[in-house]
Parts: sequence; C-alpha cells; structure tokens
Amino acid sequence: MPDCRLTHPVTDRKGTLLLAAGTRLSRQVMETVVSGQAAPVESCRLLDYRQVRSDLLGFFAASPYDLIFHEPHRRDDLLNIAGDVIMPEPVLESLYHFRELDFYTYRHTLLVFALSILIARELIDDRDALLQEVMAGPTHDIGKLSVPLEILTKETPLTRAEHAHLRHHALAGYVLLSYYFQDPGTFAAEVARDHHERKDGSGYPLGISIDNQMIDIIMVSDVYDALISPRPYRPVSYDNRTALEELTRQADAGIISETVARVLVALNRRSPPHFSQCVVSTERRGSPPSKNVYGVIETKE
Ligand SMILES: [Fe+2]
Ligand SMILES: [Fe+2]
Repeated sequence: MPDCRLTHPVTDRKGTLLLAAGTRLSRQVMETVVSGQAAPVESCRLLDYRQVRSDLLGFFAASPYDLIFHEPHRRDDLLNIAGDVIMPEPVLESLYHFRELDFYTYRHTLLVFALSILIARELIDDRDALLQEVMAGPTHDIGKLSVPLEILTKETPLTRAEHAHLRHHALAGYVLLSYYFQDPGTFAAEVARDHHERKDGSGYPLGISIDNQMIDIIMVSDVYDALISPRPYRPVSYDNRTALEELTRQADAGIISETVARVLVALNRRSPPHFSQCVVSTERRGSPPSKNVYGVIETKE
C-alpha cells in the first residue's frame, strides 16, 4: 500500500480512539491495530441480525428499487446468497448503529450490498468465490463511524473542510475492518479503502487506478444509489433514467467500469437482455433535478 497518513482520527462507534490524526499507515502500525483486538469475537449472519432482513425487504418494495428487485426468482436468489454472509458481532453492531443515528447510511449500505450481489452473480460463476467477494459490500462505508454525525446528517452542502472529513471514511474503514477481522489484508478492508478510487485514478484517498472486478461492482452500486437516493443535504435525487445516463457517461469517460455499468442498465429493463446484448444509448434525455447538489461543495468555510 502506498505511503499515506490519516487526516483525522479513527474511532469506533463508542468513540474509542484506534489511531490518531497524522498516523502513517505502515505495516507495523497496522499490525499493532490488529493485535489491539484482544479476543476472537463471535460472528453472526447479517440477515438474521435484529431487523436487517425485514428492512431490506422494505427497501426492495419501494420505488425505484422495486423495478430491479420485483422479480421473485431474482430476489429469492439474492436473499439466498445474502443469507450466507456472516460478520463479526462488532461489525453488525456498527451497521446497526447507523440504523439508529443515520438511517440514510444504514439503508445505503444494505442497498449497495444487494445491488452488488445482483451484479456479481452476472459476472462471477463460482458461488463460493461470489460469496467471498460480496461479503465486503455491507461494510464499505463503516469508516463513517469516524465522521461526526453533524457532518453525516447536515442538511446543507458540505464545506471543503467537512468534505475532507467525510473522505476520511475510506481510510478509517480500512483501519476499522482490519481491526475487527484481525487481519489488515482482509478483502472487506481493501474495499472500504478503495471504493472511492476510480478506474482513471481520479478518486480518493490515494488517487490510484483500480483494476479489481468486485471493487468495480461496489463502486458502480455506490454511485448509483448515491444518485437515486435522497440524503439529508440533497433532498432531491436523480430520477432513475438520468442516474443510468450519468453512469453511462462515467463509463464512457473511463471513470467506472463499462461492463458493470452495462449490467446495471440491463437489470433495470423489464425483460432484461443479457448484459452483453444491452445497448446503452449515449443520447441524454433526462436531466438532473434543479435543486440537486450532487458533488457540490459549499465554498464558504
Ligand atoms: Fe463511501
Ligand atoms: Fe457508499
């Protein structure tokens, strides 16, 4: 991993400090973080944890996701795969922490997880390999535990400083998942660190170009849900057509994976063609809503 330093502290859901701002994430530091987790922790199935399963079914039934998740066969297959995902208890408690304090992030993490399963099953044939990969979906934003709630739930565009603090969630997620899984090389930690990187190197935290199929899948699912779902500071979201057009534009520009974008467009058709046959029109018919502030940063500090 290239040399990098934390811009802000990494804390868990109780506010306990794991690493201070300015710490360089060297191999030695990460080994110290992992050894700080005293005893092996219990694990449990994500879908069996408290109300996760019923929440997920509720999200599937609401527009615009009802289009993607309406087909019973597809939904049952998804639940079957998701049902085998097991996580350490502190990770589940952390996800549920968002259910209580920042429902948007909770809903987002579960929907990105569900979308990533639907996309991955089109691209990965081996079920065990598929399961290993999709396990990284629900935890991709766990680093938001280290971002103040006032920023996560702010109802106006973020300032530059707040935006920098929000971006900290990628490296914070890497540290937190290395800690909880007791392994700095675990794939979930890698996904948390890299899901805001882009294929052309235009992302963060390191600005490296990503070439990993599962990170491509989480990246596309993440952008799609961010566009079509309201957030506290962005109450007006993109309509589905305009969001798919924006993904197509980003794929054409080499920012995100074209194959993954194609799969997502195919999943949005009523009678989906195989994604390889899916023609994505570059003609733009929709337009972003006038009050949408996707990507806007408040310049007043
Ligand atoms: Fe994120
Ligand atoms: Fe996300």
